[in-house]
Amino acid sequence: MGSSTLSLQIAGLSLDYPGMLASGVLGYSAESMFRVIEGGAGAVVTKSVSLQPRCGYANPTVVQVKSGLINAMGLPNPGIQVYAEEIRRSKTLIRQPLIVSIFGYSAEEYAVVAGKAVAAGADALELNVSCPHVKQTGSEIGQNAALLFEVVKTVKATVKVPVFVKLSPNVTDIVHLASTAVDAGADALTAVNTLRAIAINVETTRPILNNIKGGLSGPAMKNVALRCVYDIREKLANIPIVGCGGISSWQDAVEFFLAGASAVQIGTAIAFDSPKVFQTINQGIETYLKKKHLRSVNEIVGLSHH
Ligand code: FUM
Repeated sequence: MGSSTLSLQIAGLSLDYPGMLASGVLGYSAESMFRVIEGGAGAVVTKSVSLQPRCGYANPTVVQVKSGLINAMGLPNPGIQVYAEEIRRSKTLIRQPLIVSIFGYSAEEYAVVAGKAVAAGADALELNVSCPHVKQTGSEIGQNAALLFEVVKTVKATVKVPVFVKLSPNVTDIVHLASTAVDAGADALTAVNTLRAIAINVETTRPILNNIKGGLSGPAMKNVALRCVYDIREKLANIPIVGCGGISSWQDAVEFFLAGASAVQIGTAIAFDSPKVFQTINQGIETYLKKKHLRSVNEIVGLSHH
């Protein structure tokens, strides 16, 4: 059980700690997500799952760059039919909220996957409308306000659990898309997915990733993600925001709270460190709050706007 200083409520979910596992890292199996919970996460988000299985792209799918990673896995997953069993197993191991990340190629497909994930035990859903490189899904939906509205509204009409919408930073006006998701019924926003990027091998003269372009994560994108959270909070006062992008220290997490996030997600820092990064961040936040004579994380959410 977490300390009351760090526990919080977001979109109806109770978290002992303010850090969630971000989708895409260690989110495949019940055991790996349990390790992340043991490391101090307050909730976990699974790898994105679709109606039909996808094998993803050929290697190389990840490249380390200065202060980050660029990945283009291609949304590999076994399909919701098979993954439903993993959701059920996860629910026997993990007491904390299990948020299932889903995607589809139409609003109806998102809704079918949503229904199956909830039937298997998902406590909440995160709609991946922001993967920056898979065709006909991801950011092709999240960058288009009309499609985004339809997907969120259709899923909301299908399930009763909280629906988080993971936004793309690869847009001109993130506030417009955030408010579209809110108008369609989103219960919370995750800001943000990866930044579209490329790395080139100077010896071969060719792009390194098999897919050529991928998504940049890690410290290299932190201040872009932070600006996205700040912009959304500036215009949308009431929607809970989960900050995501390059968070690897308690100071990063506190910056996101001050910008307007109520919770944070961590992914790449686990790959560079270990799931224990959550414990280190939790301790740092707790010490910071004590030093400031504050009793909960909630007291600093959005403070940089005042
Ligand atoms: O390639 C991938 O599976 C990435 C997914 C995402 O960025 O959402």
